[in-house]
Amino acid sequence: MSRVVVSPASSFSLNISEIAPDKSISHRSVMFAMLANGESVIENFLRAEDTMNSLKIVKNLGAKVEDDGKTIKISSDGIQESFEVLDCGNSGTGMRLFCGLLSSANGHFVLTGDKYLRSRPMKRVTTPLLSIGAKLDGRDEGDLAPLSIRGASLNSFNYESKIASAQVKSCMILAALRANGICTYTEPELSRDHTERMLKGMGAGIEVDGLKTTITPMTELLNPLTIRVPADPSSAFFFAVAAAITPNSNIILEGVTLNPTRIEAFKALERMGADISYEITDNKYEPIGNITVKHSKLHGIVVEDNISWLIDELPVLSIAMACAEGESLIKNAEELRVKESDRISTVVEGLRAANIEVHEYKDGYKVVGGVLKSAKVDSDGDHRIAMSFIIAGLKCGMEVTDLECINTSFPNFFELLQKITKIEIS
Ligand code: S3P
Repeated sequence: MSRVVVSPASSFSLNISEIAPDKSISHRSVMFAMLANGESVIENFLRAEDTMNSLKIVKNLGAKVEDDGKTIKISSDGIQESFEVLDCGNSGTGMRLFCGLLSSANGHFVLTGDKYLRSRPMKRVTTPLLSIGAKLDGRDEGDLAPLSIRGASLNSFNYESKIASAQVKSCMILAALRANGICTYTEPELSRDHTERMLKGMGAGIEVDGLKTTITPMTELLNPLTIRVPADPSSAFFFAVAAAITPNSNIILEGVTLNPTRIEAFKALERMGADISYEITDNKYEPIGNITVKHSKLHGIVVEDNISWLIDELPVLSIAMACAEGESLIKNAEELRVKESDRISTVVEGLRAANIEVHEYKDGYKVVGGVLKSAKVDSDGDHRIAMSFIIAGLKCGMEVTDLECINTSFPNFFELLQKITKIEIS
C-alpha cells in the first residue's frame, strides 16, 4: 500500500460508529495498568501500530496480558527488567511516557523507535528527569533515541515547564508517583489531561488547580483500571472536515471523547461557519458522546490560542482553510515542526502543490482560501499528512503516496473513506 488515488466526493449523509479508538488513552491505559494492584480491563483498545507497540513493551516489562481480540486484561507484579530493546515504533507518546514510568523502576532499559522517532527531541523529558536524579542518556547529549535508562530513586520536584506538552506532563507525573516527596508540575497552557483524569480515577493522589498539578507519591498500588476507550477526536476530525467541505453533506461521529482539551479543532471549524453539535452520552474518566457536523459555507479564521488542544488536527483543519473564503492564519504553533514530520513544511508544500497560496512563518502559516486542484502529494511518512491530503482529494481528486504510516493511528481509515468516495489503492 504505497499510493492511493482519491476521487472527488458527491454529497453524503453518514453515521459512523467505527472511528479508531483514542490513541492517547490507549497508550496510557496499558501503561497505567502496570501500577495497579489487580487486573485492569480495557475494551476498545486502539489496535494500531503505535499502541500495539506500547502493549508489547508492557508485556516485555513482565505484565501478564490476556487479549481475546476484544478485551485486554492486564495485571502486573511490578516492572521487570526486559531482555528486549523496547521499540516504541513511531510513537513520541510511547517513548516519552515510558521514560517517566521506567526512571524509577528496578533495572536497565533501552527505548528505541523508527527512523522518524529517533530524530525527534527527547531533551524535553530527559532534562527534567535528570534534574530529579534519574539516570538516563541518549545520543546527542540525551536528546535522541535510542535512550538508555537505569532506574534510580527520584527526588521530589516543583517543575515549571516552558512548553504546554501532555507528553512531558505525563512523563513527569509518572515519575512523581515514585518520587520521595510531594511534587508539583506547572505548564504555561493546559495540555490534554487524560493522565490526570485516569490516574485520579485509579485512586492516585493527584490534584489539579488551573495549570498546576500536585502529585502525592504512591504509598500503595493503585486500583485497577476499567475502561472502554472512546473514539479518537483527532481521527474523527478527518471525517468532520470531509463533511464540512462537501456541499449538502452531514456526518454523525459516535462515541468520541468530548474532553474539552481534545475538541478545540471542532470549535475552530465551527468558528469557520460549519454547523456542529455535541451530545454527551457517557461520562467515565471524561465526557464521551456524539458529534454531528453539517456542511455550510466556510470562511477564514485566526488560530492562535490553546494550540496544544488542536495541534494534531491542524494539518486537516488547513484543508478546510484552503476551501474557505478569505485568509486563515495559524500562529504560535512552532511545535508542529517537531511532530512526526515538520508539519509546517509538509502542509505548506502539499497545499502549494494543490494550487493554494500559503505563506510560511517560523511558528505557523497563512492559507489563502481558493480552488484546490488535483496533485500528487507525498506524506513524508507522517500519518496525519497522508490522511489530510486524502481528505483534500474529496474536493478535487488527489494522489497521495507513502501510506503505510496511516496504520500507526487509524487502520480502518480507508474502509470508512470508501463510504464517501471511490479510491484506488496500489
Ligand atoms: C499526546 C500529546 C500531544 C499530541 C500527541 C499525543 C499525548 O503532544 O501531539 O499526538 O498522548 O500525550 P504534546 O506532548 O506536544 O502535547
